[in-house]
Amino acid sequence: MTAAFRTAAVLVLSNLFYTPSFAGMEEGRMKSQVCAACHGVDGNSISANIPSIAAQPKQFIVTALYMYREGRRKSEAMSVFAEKLSNADLNDLAQYFSSQKLKAPVREPQADVLSKGREITEKNNCVACHTANLVGQQHIPRLAGQHQVYLLEQLKLFKAAQRGDFDGTMTSAAQALLAEDLDLLAEYLSTLNK
Ligand code: HEC
Ligand code: HEC
Repeated sequence: MTAAFRTAAVLVLSNLFYTPSFAGMEEGRMKSQVCAACHGVDGNSISANIPSIAAQPKQFIVTALYMYREGRRKSEAMSVFAEKLSNADLNDLAQYFSSQKLKAPVREPQADVLSKGREITEKNNCVACHTANLVGQQHIPRLAGQHQVYLLEQLKLFKAAQRGDFDGTMTSAAQALLAEDLDLLAEYLSTLNK
């Protein structure tokens, strides 16, 4: 991605964040009804291939919705809902879902998965961006406690450079991962409880 494009993208996003309806918790709750069928009323999805969005950083939710709306992240399921959303909707929905609690994972990690997963995420600097507990920050998503099936699919897409990626940093980060580590990594991340 060129520097000029990156600057333009950051400007677009900062405009999104400074819309006046920044604090739209109640608006977000009302607008979220259409999302509940797939993501759950409180953002805890019960389908393995649909991500939970409870407790995702607010800025990440805005960014993801923006990417779907603009066709830069492709998803048949999401694009039809995202294309109707205004910038104010993005903020309100993000306010609502980021404030919801993520349910604890159903499984405990096995000791070997835990130690290998920790080693891979430290060696590859995943923790530098996604934070030490892998709960995400700013435009960087939470990985801890996300569905294993969904995580594995995203990792494969990033490694194949086929996942819409806001600034390209995640596609780069995925290149160093070994294909045979992806299953373990997805399992590890899905069992983290923070
Ligand atoms: C028909 C089911 C469906 C509906 C309704 C739906 N989503 Fe989604 N959503 C999905 C699926 C499936 C994905 C994963 C798509 C992909 O692979 O990129 C997704 C992904 C997302 C993501 C990205 C999460 C991540 O961790 O990357 C966000 C944010 C999101 N949806 C928010 C919403 C909001 C807000 C609404 C309501 C306006 C909504 N969705 C409605 C199915 C749905
Ligand atoms: C330079 C910062 C950076 C590093 C290092 C990084 N990531 Fe990411 N990651 C991101 C960003 C930014 C996104 C959001 C991309 C987007 O949706 O546009 C992301 C998205 C993801 C997603 C998708 C989650 C979702 O809910 O859709 C997964 C899975 C992921 N990263 C795993 C990892 C793993 C595993 C590592 C270590 C190998 C890693 N990341 C290293 C910045 C980083």
